[in-house]
Amino acid sequence: MQVVVADTFEEWRRAARQLLRSDTEPAEVLFRDSAGQRGLFDDGAQLEKTAQRSRRQEPRPAYRVPKEFLDLARKVSCHRDSDRWERLYRTLWRLTHGERRLLEVTTDDDVHRLLTMEKSVRRDAHKMKAFVRFRRVLAEGEEHFIAWHRPDHRIVRLTAPFFSRRFPDMFWSILTPGESVSWDKKALCYGPGVPASASPETDELEDLWRTYYGNIFNPARVNLATMTREMPVRHWATLPETDIIDDLLADAPRRVDEMVARQEGFATSAADFLPMELELRVLRAAARTCEGCHLHRAATQTVFGEGPPDAKIVLVGEQPGDQEDLAGRPFVGPAGDVLNDALSAVGIDREQVYLTNAVKHFKYEPRGKRRLHKRPDAREMSACKPWVEAELTLLQPNVLVCLGATAAQQLIGRDFRLTQQRGRAIVTQWCDNTIPTYHPSAVLRNPDPIRRERLMATLVADLRAAKTHLC
Ligand code: URA
Ligand code: SF4
Repeated sequence: MQVVVADTFEEWRRAARQLLRSDTEPAEVLFRDSAGQRGLFDDGAQLEKTAQRSRRQEPRPAYRVPKEFLDLARKVSCHRDSDRWERLYRTLWRLTHGERRLLEVTTDDDVHRLLTMEKSVRRDAHKMKAFVRFRRVLAEGEEHFIAWHRPDHRIVRLTAPFFSRRFPDMFWSILTPGESVSWDKKALCYGPGVPASASPETDELEDLWRTYYGNIFNPARVNLATMTREMPVRHWATLPETDIIDDLLADAPRRVDEMVARQEGFATSAADFLPMELELRVLRAAARTCEGCHLHRAATQTVFGEGPPDAKIVLVGEQPGDQEDLAGRPFVGPAGDVLNDALSAVGIDREQVYLTNAVKHFKYEPRGKRRLHKRPDAREMSACKPWVEAELTLLQPNVLVCLGATAAQQLIGRDFRLTQQRGRAIVTQWCDNTIPTYHPSAVLRNPDPIRRERLMATLVADLRAAKTHLC
């Protein structure tokens, strides 16, 4: 039995590679977190020896690990449960030993558990991004911003890059019980955790904190009722900015202009524009000023999702079209007409559905007076993903329909192939019944009337299948 000590994804990945190379079966390995006891287990040396031995014996096949798995593993590795490393290694072993498409089998015990863990980590990361509050302290004449936070999982390394993008020009530290991170305007540096008793929550800092909060104030964040409801007490025991909110609101328009100017040229993702509160109304308002990619420049406006906040079913399209761009609402053009027909054919009331898109700005190529639809590329899809992620985190639908390959690839995985995998309910981190189907535009665009009819029939059948999961 080998014992491997890993605390981070990189450590696990290195160990897993060597274990695979030396053909070590999952049942022969015990994974541990160091829990501050590094050095007790002679993992590295032992592993290297085994790997060398096996390299001498015979060349091992190079394993191709799907990127989707690595993305999943990176998130799962932040989960607090100690069985995560074993599950990850077992899944990796199975993927590389004849079960190449294992991740599609979302009913599989390992896959299901990994997806659940990933979901929980994502939620926690979202909360951390939303609830971290910095306080300004002066240390040796330098201004430093410090925040204390208690996440559920080990997400400091996962979320730190977000904070460095958001606050690139400040010295800051985020302290958590498990790990701390600091930014010196150039690089992130990780250190040991800090107990709550050592957090910088003292009264003298309150005024400085208020000043700081005033400096970074984002009007889209102001909704005190939601702030207090959404915020577990341990995230934010007091709200010292409440008494300066009125002043801040009066100054809001100038601050918005300033914020936009500051962010110009920096943002590469909608993540930088996400508001603090998790509420649809607030998200929609914040998305109006999103400049997470270049698409906002040529488009008329952001087309955010719409529908009841308690919708049981969410439909995600690709991106707004010409008419949606002008109207500012999703699915109001020709593709929307097809969708309406399909919905009424199966008896789903459009008013009960939350409709949104993978990408929130219209991408097109001007042709004379017309604007020809262009598919969003991988960068734009990934830049815009935080919006749909935030929408789904809030909505938690019973059924999630991905209309077309763009939405399916964004929410299910890059390798997703619509023609082969549509129509079946898949468990994803967003929803246990995620159903990919054709996009209504595929029906519209097909020149052959018989094919068109068939595509429409399939779209209707898939929506009917979606409806069966609604109750
Ligand atoms: N196509 C989409 O994917 N979304 C819309 O909102 C309109 C057309
Ligand atoms: Fe932001 Fe998405 Fe629009 Fe890009 S497409 S600017 S990420 S809302």
